[in-house]
Amino acid sequence: MALISPLETVRGSIALYTGAVFLLVYFLTSIHRRWSRYRFAKAHGCGPIPAIPTYDPFMALDRLYFNIKTAKQRKILETNVARFVELGNTVRAQRITTPMILTREPENVKTILSLKFNDYSMGDRLQIFGRLLGHGIFTSDGEDWTRSRHMIRPNFVKEQVAHLEIFEELMEDLFALIPADGSTVDLQDLFFGFTIDSATEFLFGHNVHSLKKRRSQVVDNEPDFPAAFNYSLDNIVMNSRFGPLQFLNRDPKAVEANRICHQMVEQFVDKAMRVREKYDEEKATGETEESRRYVFLNGLAQQTGNRTRIRDELMNVLLAGRDTTASLLSNMFFMLAKHPKVWAKLQEELATLEGRAPTYEQLRNLKYLKYCMNESLRLHPVVPVNSRTAIKDTVIPVGGGPDGRSPVFVPKGTIVAYSVWAMHRREDFYGPDAEEFRPERWETLRPGWEYLPFNGGPRICVGQQYALTEAAYVTTRLAQRYSVIESRDAGPWEEKLTLTLCSHNGTKVSLRH
Ligand code: HEM
Ligand SMILES: *[C@@H]1O[C@H](CO)[C@@H](O)[C@H](O)[C@H]1NC(C)=O
Ligand SMILES: *[C@@H]1O[C@H](CO)[C@@H](O)[C@H](O)[C@H]1NC(C)=O
Ligand SMILES: *[C@@H]1O[C@H](CO)[C@@H](O)[C@H](O)[C@H]1NC(C)=O
Ligand SMILES: *[C@@H]1O[C@H](CO)[C@@H](O)[C@H](O)[C@H]1NC(C)=O
Repeated sequence: MALISPLETVRGSIALYTGAVFLLVYFLTSIHRRWSRYRFAKAHGCGPIPAIPTYDPFMALDRLYFNIKTAKQRKILETNVARFVELGNTVRAQRITTPMILTREPENVKTILSLKFNDYSMGDRLQIFGRLLGHGIFTSDGEDWTRSRHMIRPNFVKEQVAHLEIFEELMEDLFALIPADGSTVDLQDLFFGFTIDSATEFLFGHNVHSLKKRRSQVVDNEPDFPAAFNYSLDNIVMNSRFGPLQFLNRDPKAVEANRICHQMVEQFVDKAMRVREKYDEEKATGETEESRRYVFLNGLAQQTGNRTRIRDELMNVLLAGRDTTASLLSNMFFMLAKHPKVWAKLQEELATLEGRAPTYEQLRNLKYLKYCMNESLRLHPVVPVNSRTAIKDTVIPVGGGPDGRSPVFVPKGTIVAYSVWAMHRREDFYGPDAEEFRPERWETLRPGWEYLPFNGGPRICVGQQYALTEAAYVTTRLAQRYSVIESRDAGPWEEKLTLTLCSHNGTKVSLRH
């Protein structure tokens, strides 16, 4: 009797044979992929780019360690610039095992964000932000994003953005927290309060009164939404540092903070749904009672009846809109307080208003104020670094080859990171004084893609006009009230890099009439 039946022998050889075929196919496809990538790169005239040196060619763990160290020293952005100066404006690196390209070349940024928009996605943004934000304009890609964008965008037309009363009412709360005797106050702290109040008013139709609560004028039993929102955001920043290992970052307090945020917003969504039902009835009778004030949420509720959807979109816009505007104001006032001549010039321009609150049109005509905002966003861009992930093999136009003028091959899966901070400091665009805060440079400057505080292409910031209006209004009213501002920050501006970029030490100033 044979130990192995003929049938089994056949089975065995079939298994062997299949295995061999699989291996062969695997090798052939990988060779084929390499070959077609090589041909693709060659056909596009791509050249190699310098790599950031690493001692660990597998996972670049030394780089990870180095990045954590520079983060602690608050010198991430500065170190990035030095590296671009040393190696070139487009360089290669890796994040653990994912290939990365870092660039500060306007032509490349324009290609990623606009010309070849469809070759890229937001990468793992949804995983990182999803627990707080769900699916919304900021976290989605492809058709989901298109749908969100269509829903959000109409809420930012001029008629909606030009409502200045919300800001004026909040100015009273802000002034009340500035010491009358000129003692030191941290404006950054107050600006974060101001923007959470104005954003919740604009988005939900319900101001969370974080400024008023500081003077304990309002005592209620609402959970502390601003604190919960802060906590959730900090957790998101942690998630992004952990990258693929974020499952290790399970923080029960963050889960609770997310729950508080969701619950808070849901309560307003429910209210909006009732408004929507009423609206439908009124439409039937031909009578519509437009609310006195525009509320973003009601705008959304007219477009969809899906509560989760509305809640997630609101969280997305709140995230995109709150810290950003507060950071712009904080960074700008840090510099204004250190540059008395700029403050004096601003005072001069604002004197034309004769102490009255500006209208939307008047705000738009305050040229020097605009220069100051542009200069602040150039020197301290609120979103200083950003990235996209290639979803197919593609190319960016410059950086390759010995002279850096050839295109660069971007294999599918590569993270292309761009540093707006470093781009805004290029001396070939901004001159040898690129590091200086000098609003006057905007008298003649007409930059293209080398100036990108609000992003560009199809995903350009939808809140730009709203943000600039708010920042201009707050600056105008503060400058009208206080003729003197003095910096109480002993040192220079230092980065505090979370989701947005503000000042590590806050914005310590003295304000006097
Ligand atoms: C100084 C203030 C602001 C700056 C510098 C700023 C900057 C940016 C940047 C750089 C992006 C692109 C993010 C990316 O695609 O990776 C963006 C997107 C966005 N911003 Fe702003 N932003 C500001 C204020 C606001 C405000 C006040 C709102 C809303 C109230 C807002 C709403 C949005 C939204 C919804 C997106 C996502 C757009 C999309 O992906 O289609 N932003 N912003
Ligand atoms: C939230 O964070 C900002 C910036 O980090 C800080 O200035 C503010 O005081 C925090 N607000 C609360 C309520 O914790
Ligand atoms: C509502 O929206 C959420 C999130 O966008 C989605 O997951 C869900 O399927 C939607 N529900 C309905 C009934 O359309
Ligand atoms: C200031 O920046 C905005 C966009 O952030 C831009 O549209 C505008 O042209 C800039 N101003 C000047 C004077 O270039
Ligand atoms: C930060 O603020 C504190 C308190 O006002 C001040 O004493 C300190 O000198 C500041 N540090 C820097 C580096 O500006």
